[in-house]
This record gives sequence, C-alpha cells and structure tokens, in this order.
Amino acid sequence: MRIDILTLFPEMFIGPFDESIIKRAREQDKVEIIFHNIRDYSDNKHHRVDDYPFGGGSGMVMKIEPVSKLIEKLKNERIYDEIIYLTPDGKQFTQKIANSLSLKKNLILLCGHYKGIDQRIRDNYITCEISIGDYVLTGGELAAAVIVDAIVRVIPGVISDETSALSDSFQDNLLAPPVYTRPVEFKGWRVPDILLSGHQQKISEWNEYQAIERTKKLRPDLLL
Ligand code: 6GU
Repeated sequence: MRIDILTLFPEMFIGPFDESIIKRAREQDKVEIIFHNIRDYSDNKHHRVDDYPFGGGSGMVMKIEPVSKLIEKLKNERIYDEIIYLTPDGKQFTQKIANSLSLKKNLILLCGHYKGIDQRIRDNYITCEISIGDYVLTGGELAAAVIVDAIVRVIPGVISDETSALSDSFQDNLLAPPVYTRPVEFKGWRVPDILLSGHQQKISEWNEYQAIERTKKLRPDLLL
C-alpha cells in the first residue's frame, strides 16, 4: 500500500511514523508513506499558498493552484483508490473505515489548514472527506497521523500475532476485555483465577462476557 500525504507542514509528521509498529511496517514495505510539501508546488514568486476569502470574513483560505498541480502530478503517475480531505466537517472516522481503507492500494491524504481549502478542490478532486471527531484542530496533519496509524496496523501481517488486531476494541463493536500479566499478586491485588486456569474455552467465554459487560457500562451506545 502507498499513502501520499499532502501538507504545508511535513515536519509535523516527524515522530509518529518512526516508532514501533508503523516503523516496522514501513521497513518491511507493507506500507510506503510519502510526504509532499504543498508549498513546493506554488508557482508565484513568494511561494504563496493562502489568500483572503472572497466575500470577506476572518482567516485565510488555501489556494487552489498548488494543490491542483500536486494532485494532478500524482494522478498522472498512478491510479488512486481515494483522495481524502481531512476536515472537521467530514464523515466521522471509525474502525470500519480504517479496515476498509487498509485494503486499498493507493491513497492521497490532503491536510487542510487555516480556514480551509478553496471549495473547488473539494468539488473536483476529493472523493472522501473525513473528520476524527467533533473538535477543531489547527490543521489536518494530526488527524492524518491518527488515520494512517489506524489503517496501517490492520494491514494483514503488520501485527505479528494474526489475531491481535481482530481482538481490539471496536472490531466487533465491543470494547476489549481487561488484560493482566505477571505477577499473579501485587499488593494483594490478584489476577482473576479463571485466567490462570489454563481452560481455554472458559477463558474465551469469560473474555466475551467481560467485553459485553464493559461495553454496557462504558459505551452502551455501541450496543444499539
Ligand atoms: Cl480532519 N481536521 C481538523 N482541522 N480538525 C479536525 C479534524 C480534521 N477532525 C477533527 N477535528
């Protein structure tokens, strides 16, 4: 899978993809993440990427030309499954969307900034608009990092234990059951006996029950 990230602030991505599971996935070529600085595609001599909104109002708007030039260059090189714009007015990101995007071959993620981007980019190039929640970030970069992380970890083979990603919270619309490790007793707090019993069938049933109870208590909306 290949993910092209279009941004005015590529430095914001230093870190999130250079550790742990995502780092290993990149090293093993399970995913290729390529950053493009939108400013590099600005033709005017001041490399201007934003301008005042027509009709007035506060804040700046990302200009159409550099983003158009970059998207058209990429589209000439390969076929993209989705061209995604990150914006607070997009569709709420979920595990289901992460699973679905993880099966794609080529994705573009366009990070908005300032007051947003010229609407004509959205109307003519974007195939999908995503938000990560009902709050406003300074730009789409942190949202893109969240989305890439969620997508990459469900690419087959990225998490070594085949079943691990499937047992996460939300994969079956349930929260994950509680987990424990050694020592069996700490300050008098014990690990539930069932988990020490070695009885796999009973342990599975217990985990299932805990997942349901936890979901009822913490996220009853998931059960509706
Ligand atoms: Cl995708 N972008 C911005 N700027 N703010 C957000 C968001 C995205 N998702 C939630 N808040």
